[in-house]
Amino acid sequence: MLRTATCGDLRITDVNKEVTLCGWVQKTRDLGGMTFIDLRDRYGVTQLTFNSDWNKTLCEQARSVSREFVLQVKGTVIERESKNKNNPTGEIEIKVTELNILNAAITPPFTIEDETDGGDELRMKYRYLDLRRNIVRKNLELRHRMAIETRNYLDKQNFLEVETPVLIKSTPEGARDFVVPSRVHNGSFYALPQSPQTFKQLLMVSGFDRYYQIVKCFRDEDLRADRQPEFTQIDCEMSFVEQEDILQTFEGLVKHLFKTVKGVDISTMPRMSYADAMKYYGNDKPDTRFEMKFVELNDVVKGKDFKVFNDAELVVGICAKGAADYTRKQLDELTEFVKRPQIGATGLVYARYNNDGTIKSSVDKFYTEEDLKKWATAFNAQPGDLMLILAGNEEKTRKALSELRLEMGSRLGLRDRNKFSCLWVIDFPLLEWNENDTNLLESLRGRWVAKHHPFTSPKPEDIALLDSNPGAVRANAYDMVINGVEVGGGSIRIFSKDLQAKMFSVLGFSKEEAQNQFGFLMNAFEFGAPPHGGIAFGFDRLCSLFGGVDSIRDFIAFPKNNAGKDMMIESPSTISDEQLKELGIKLA
Ligand code: AMO
Repeated sequence: MLRTATCGDLRITDVNKEVTLCGWVQKTRDLGGMTFIDLRDRYGVTQLTFNSDWNKTLCEQARSVSREFVLQVKGTVIERESKNKNNPTGEIEIKVTELNILNAAITPPFTIEDETDGGDELRMKYRYLDLRRNIVRKNLELRHRMAIETRNYLDKQNFLEVETPVLIKSTPEGARDFVVPSRVHNGSFYALPQSPQTFKQLLMVSGFDRYYQIVKCFRDEDLRADRQPEFTQIDCEMSFVEQEDILQTFEGLVKHLFKTVKGVDISTMPRMSYADAMKYYGNDKPDTRFEMKFVELNDVVKGKDFKVFNDAELVVGICAKGAADYTRKQLDELTEFVKRPQIGATGLVYARYNNDGTIKSSVDKFYTEEDLKKWATAFNAQPGDLMLILAGNEEKTRKALSELRLEMGSRLGLRDRNKFSCLWVIDFPLLEWNENDTNLLESLRGRWVAKHHPFTSPKPEDIALLDSNPGAVRANAYDMVINGVEVGGGSIRIFSKDLQAKMFSVLGFSKEEAQNQFGFLMNAFEFGAPPHGGIAFGFDRLCSLFGGVDSIRDFIAFPKNNAGKDMMIESPSTISDEQLKELGIKLA
């Protein structure tokens, strides 16, 4: 080893020890006769001291180094005169007797400190330097711990980690595939897996019984803070289980992670049906750190002269506790918020339940105080509360109110990052009508698509509805939601060839198309497939949630930016004409 200790190791009890340290120069301070260098490595920062009275040449050598030089130093641990209580090594320093510059460094493009002057793009371009920063490194340390504890838990539960292939076959179901051209089979393409879904089911047919994999998945979809084109799942599957067994097993995993990684006890994991989530929160991933449930008002507000409410399919609102003192300016801001194109409401009606017991609304012209009292009763509002109401088309209005609820939750400080509220959302619909989902291929528009994926089992009692009312069929599918983030999702699978064939036909596949694309799975079902089901957690999302950060990018060593580009290696990139020719690809 080139060192005897790390930059985070040494304490007051080590005084008088002879040590050798290696690391990067965090900063230098030149005080005339004395020079100090803060030497950094992954484990911490240790102060090096040079004094021209001790050794003039060494002191001059120390003055010649700059930020991010790589050094090896030998010296004695001594007690510091002015101690730094904020640094674990802050009681000691190294009286240096030998300094070796292992490598020089040019000036970094941004300062490598907790508070850096580097913008997002610059830090992405020099990600290896960004990774030297404590904050970023700590995120990856958290990720490592999460992976270890995941493996510990699943191993104890008898799960086997099995690797599945990365070059697979393209299927038009779900998001768009990333494809890889084959040189040997000109004109043919592999696809990168959107998930190992079919392979893990085949492993159940093989009798593996309990499988997991911490695995890279690839999806060519619109990017957001919680989506990357390349991301990681904790992917799991079990045989001879019912939904309840899966919920229990993976509640156990999440509780184990919270306990071992964060020291947090999660006592309950309530369950909510998809229908209730939509009705009370307008969202299939409600943030249940706070209540503020939707209250439907059609019966209470219709029949007066207010056309907006009378014409609306749905009038629905929330009650913001203690917000009656919101100023006109704050209410205008909320109105602007709901009218933003992404939210899409046409306006916002509010009613303040003042502390003196009076109620004043933005539609006093149409409603008497007595009417407004009825609103307050519907909301179970108390003096001091603010009622916020939206009206319009049912689906859009629920969606907009869901956004407003989250906004109010944030404004009222109800979304504490150190509080964790876990929830299972269950009984999802099996299918959804795809009007215009831009994440799906155009050929899938105007038809039923699987809400989860085509291998999800309908609830046995709903199978009869598959032909007559596909939209009403519920699935044995579940999502785990934590603080409003969908961290995982799964289902009990179809394991009969006939039911799987039926499902493909409801999804609009011809027999031939189904056989061509998924024949391998349906055929496997004929060789003794056990009942099975599973789940996959978004590992990056779980890590960012544990780290208290919204963007999953911060928990990925080398992420892509918002445009799906890796700024450091500059990918995607063009390839040479020679490569294109070999692959038999002609660019348009
Ligand atoms: P699903 O598509 O719901 O299920 O994905 C499982 C979880 O993966 C995370 N996730 C993502 N994270 C980051 N970036 C993305 N682009 C991204 N897409 C999904 C989410 C999500 O809950 N094979 C099924 C699982 C199963 O049925 O067992 C599947 O992939 O947290």
